[in-house]
Amino acid sequence: MWKIQLFKLNFDHRERDAVLATLESGWLTMGERIIGFETAFGEHLGQGARCTAVSNGTAALHMALLALNVGPDDEVIIPALTFVADANVVRLVGARPVLADCTSLTDWNVSAESIAQKITPRTKAVIVVHYAGFPCDMPAIAKLCHERGLKLVEDVAHGPGISIAGQSCGTFGDVGCYSFFSNKNLSIGEGGMVVAGDEGISQRLRYLRSHGMTTLTLDRHKGRAITYDVAEPGLNYRMDEIRAAIGSVQLDKLPAANARRGELSARYRRNLAGSTVQMPFGELAADAVSAYHILPLLLPAGCNRIAVIEALKVAGVQSSIHYPPFWEFAAYKGVVAAQDAPVAADICNRELTMPLFPTMLDADVDLVSEELLKAVA
Ligand SMILES: Cc1ncc(COP(=O)(O)O)c(C=O)c1O
Repeated sequence: MWKIQLFKLNFDHRERDAVLATLESGWLTMGERIIGFETAFGEHLGQGARCTAVSNGTAALHMALLALNVGPDDEVIIPALTFVADANVVRLVGARPVLADCTSLTDWNVSAESIAQKITPRTKAVIVVHYAGFPCDMPAIAKLCHERGLKLVEDVAHGPGISIAGQSCGTFGDVGCYSFFSNKNLSIGEGGMVVAGDEGISQRLRYLRSHGMTTLTLDRHKGRAITYDVAEPGLNYRMDEIRAAIGSVQLDKLPAANARRGELSARYRRNLAGSTVQMPFGELAADAVSAYHILPLLLPAGCNRIAVIEALKVAGVQSSIHYPPFWEFAAYKGVVAAQDAPVAADICNRELTMPLFPTMLDADVDLVSEELLKAVA
């Protein structure tokens, strides 16, 4: 249906071979492939990151808040410009989401200043999102949270592979949360990783992942344990071996795939320079590495976004919105409000996401840019 779709999987025989080998191994969940994927992901992050593979990114966020003891009567500051999962998990642990605004119309991430303005005596934690794979100012945000005694969770769903001055994002706060949903830079289908440097937090994350149980089926299979205790009430947020096998292949491909996304993103920027369409994050700090997860644009004020999406559709180009304002969703009316984050509210109404994926051709970027400029003219 689409000449150029929003996203395409970067899969080949390596993912297929990994899946087939797993099926032939006779062990389907929480085995050696999970351990291998967690170890490789930890080595990739550095900083002594302890990694726990989980069923998806939302599970990672939920577990992070539980492990940090966020609960009823607490407030959690979250970015207004994000996927609704960040707000949902805050509410599911009984806490209240408070919106921090975007830094500006060119830097869409939350800043330390925007967070500081929202701190109250009830604030327990902050969740930051490295939007589109561009790192937030983590040194400043981590310093603020440390000084004010706040827990810090990094939602790195958009950014496996991103860093600041050589330190991986996901390791600046108390817990880092990753999503490996199909359309992410590291695609598994469903999957996630939750990461902590602190041994105690990491141990709690492991308990939360699997019913609070102190030994695994694999331990008993290998004769390392006979039975188990339950250390605390937990969930079943486990990943299976098939997904871990795909994840390890995708992790190997990540550096080259992110680099290619960067080249394509630079081509879009050149093509659209001087037009009425703005591309955010034009000034990336010299020591920051982006994952270029998506290609977000800001349409001119007053532009009919639906008409642009329709015109692109007729031309065979798929587009999307990251993100619709979640305070307008039925479940969020009266919970958070647009006036809490005016810059994000403006962006949510004018944002348009264009196709970006590692196997995209330069010619595809040129075609999409041309069709977009025609559609907004
Ligand atoms: C910023 C952000 N946070 C959290 C999530 C949730 O991840 P998952 O879909 O793996 O539960 C997503 C995924 O879409 C996301 O983009």
